[in-house]
This record gives sequence, structure tokens and C-alpha cells, in this order.
Amino acid sequence: MTPLLIANWKSHKNEAQALAWLEIFAAFWSKYQGQSQVVIAPPASLLGSLDWFFREKIASTLPGQLSLGVQDLSPFPSGAYTGALSIENIANFQVKYAIVGHSERRRYFHETHAEVANKVDQALAAGITPVVCVDVDYVESQAAAIARDQLEKCVVAYEPLEAIGSGVNQPIIEVKPVVSAIKAAFGKVPILYGGSVSSQNVAEYTDVVDGFLVGSKSLDAQEWIEIIKKAGN
Ligand code: PGA
Repeated sequence: MTPLLIANWKSHKNEAQALAWLEIFAAFWSKYQGQSQVVIAPPASLLGSLDWFFREKIASTLPGQLSLGVQDLSPFPSGAYTGALSIENIANFQVKYAIVGHSERRRYFHETHAEVANKVDQALAAGITPVVCVDVDYVESQAAAIARDQLEKCVVAYEPLEAIGSGVNQPIIEVKPVVSAIKAAFGKVPILYGGSVSSQNVAEYTDVVDGFLVGSKSLDAQEWIEIIKKAGN
């Protein structure tokens, strides 16, 4: 399959910084001939700005290959849930993917497998593909919490905790068995690797996974462009 590349900006960047990044990226993207699906997941506050930029400045180039992602989603429908981002809130944006259950959400916001499963529900109801993040210890238990008929509608991102933000990516030999475990638990799903992915190491993984979830190295537009180039066709 064609690589799926997701930039996870986490809680970095304000609007001016995002627009400066987009100007550099747009110059590259207007000439891009590859097949990769590229997704930018900015902080929720910047979704409107990116959506506007995509429509106004890059809409004509490779429509369908560039889209927005959200870094998290409410486990509830729209309603009295202060601070939550519901599918209704993002309905007018070109959001195709929702990252759910990132280890930082689990660790700092105490998200449970059941909440992640509810987020999967919400995303799918809106026609958004959930990107379920897992580490090796809870591949099976997270899959078990998600309705069976929804499992194969997910993308799964394998993100080993020690590799996230550490600058030390996990060796491919250690990634391979986890990819098999994810297939056993979720079925035929696209599998991403995340954890200190850079333009220097991304090519090592392209035979084993279907794409990448990239944090730190997606913050610099030029480095992100290099990652897109190295990740494949
Ligand atoms: P990193 O983050 O690329 O900075 O390691 C990846 C992620 O947390 O999605």
C-alpha cells in the first residue's frame, strides 16, 4: 500500500509558526509526484487555519493525498463536555484521521482502553479513520476493548514508549514481532511505526510497516519534506 505519513505536532506551534511551516511545505507539495498519503495533525486550535490554507493555497494539487488529522477526539458526542473536541466541532474541516490513545494521553490524562474504544466509535460515526496508538504491553487488551467489527476499520500505530521523543528509534528487529502481534489482534489493518522517526532512519522500516507517525521531526518543515521523500514512492 502507499505510505501513510502523519505529522503529530502535539501542543507545539501558534498560528504564525504554522503558517510559516505551511509556506515551505506548500512549495514542495505543489511539485510532489509521489503516492504517499500525508496527514498533518496540528493542535486543535490551528485546525481552522490549516483547513483554510489547504483549501485556498493547495487545494488544486493532489486533492485527496493531503488531509488533516486530530490528535485526540472526545469519547462523547457533542454536548456538555467542557474542553472536549467532538466530531461536530470538526465536521467542516478536511479531517480524515483521528489519533486516539496516544501514550501521552494515556499517561498524562489517564485515558483508558474503554475511552479509546469510545473515541474509535465517535471517529467512525463521522467517517474519520481512527489511528489507535499502542505499545507492546497492551496490543491485545486495547484490541479486546474495541468492537470486533470496528477493528479492521482502524489504523494502528505502534509506538514504543522508550522511543517516543528520545531520539532513539526502535531497531527494526524489535518492531517486526510487534507488527505480527498487531495483525493477530486487529486483523488486516495498516500499521504505522512511531518513535523518533527521522529522515535518517525512516527508510529502514518501509518494508515492515505501512507508514509513520512522526512527532518532533515533523515540526521542521524541511525535515518533514525529507521524511516524505525517504519514506517511499
Ligand atoms: P517522536 O513522537 O517522533 O517525537 O518520537 C512520535 C509520537 O509521539 O507520535
